Amino acid sequence: MRIDILTLFPAMFQCLLVPGIFERAIERGLVRVNTHNIRDYTHDKHHVVDDYAYGGGAGMILKPEPIFEAVESVKSDIYKEEGKSGEIPVILLTPQGRPFSQQIALELSRHTCLVLLCGRYEGVDERVRQHLVTDEISIGDYVLSGGELAAMVVVDAVVRLLPGVLGSEDSAQDDSHTTGLLEYPQYTRPAEYRGWTVPEVLLSGNHAEVARWRREQALRRTLERRPELLDKVELSSGERELVDRLKNLSLGSIIK
Ligand code: 6GU
Repeated sequence: MRIDILTLFPAMFQCLLVPGIFERAIERGLVRVNTHNIRDYTHDKHHVVDDYAYGGGAGMILKPEPIFEAVESVKSDIYKEEGKSGEIPVILLTPQGRPFSQQIALELSRHTCLVLLCGRYEGVDERVRQHLVTDEISIGDYVLSGGELAAMVVVDAVVRLLPGVLGSEDSAQDDSHTTGLLEYPQYTRPAEYRGWTVPEVLLSGNHAEVARWRREQALRRTLERRPELLDKVELSSGERELVDRLKNLSLGSIIK
């Protein structure tokens, strides 16, 4: 996958190069990340990228011209260098975008290239949204000063889903949210630490029992912390029964 990031702060993306998960992905040629400074696409002496809002109001708005030129230049490079045809996703990172989720990460991971456009929070000229961008993503209901950190969040979540990036192919399989549930509790050695023991079933070597325990723990944890997720997930009739039983139990304890 090729990811091109358009930003006023390309230096912020150097942290993607620190040794770690991306190192493997980059070394194996599974992902290539290019950053582009939007300011390089200005033509005036002072390289101005923003201007006052028509109609007044606080905050500067990113001008359309450098953004259009930057995106068009990057897209034409992608067409040339990757021999690609068809639509290239151009994603604006903005608090007004659709809420990012594991589902969207999976969706994005199926593309061969992505163009990420980092807005500043004060705003981007509306014509960029209307005529350039194909998608808008927000990473949550809070305001960041720019889309850069959000772009890094998206890159991280997408790249770790690319085949071959994670150590073992199924290590993303049980992730919280991949299953629609929060992940079950995990333990490693020692089996006893400061008197706190690992649940017996995990030491038993009985894979079916372990799988059952984990599924139940995932259900309990999701019910406790994110009950709304249970409305969307597909459960067996036995699992539904268990959830209902747990719900009634906790209702009972509230009434008491
Ligand atoms: Cl994508 N951008 C900004 N500026 N703030 C955000 C965001 C994005 N997602 C949540 N807050």
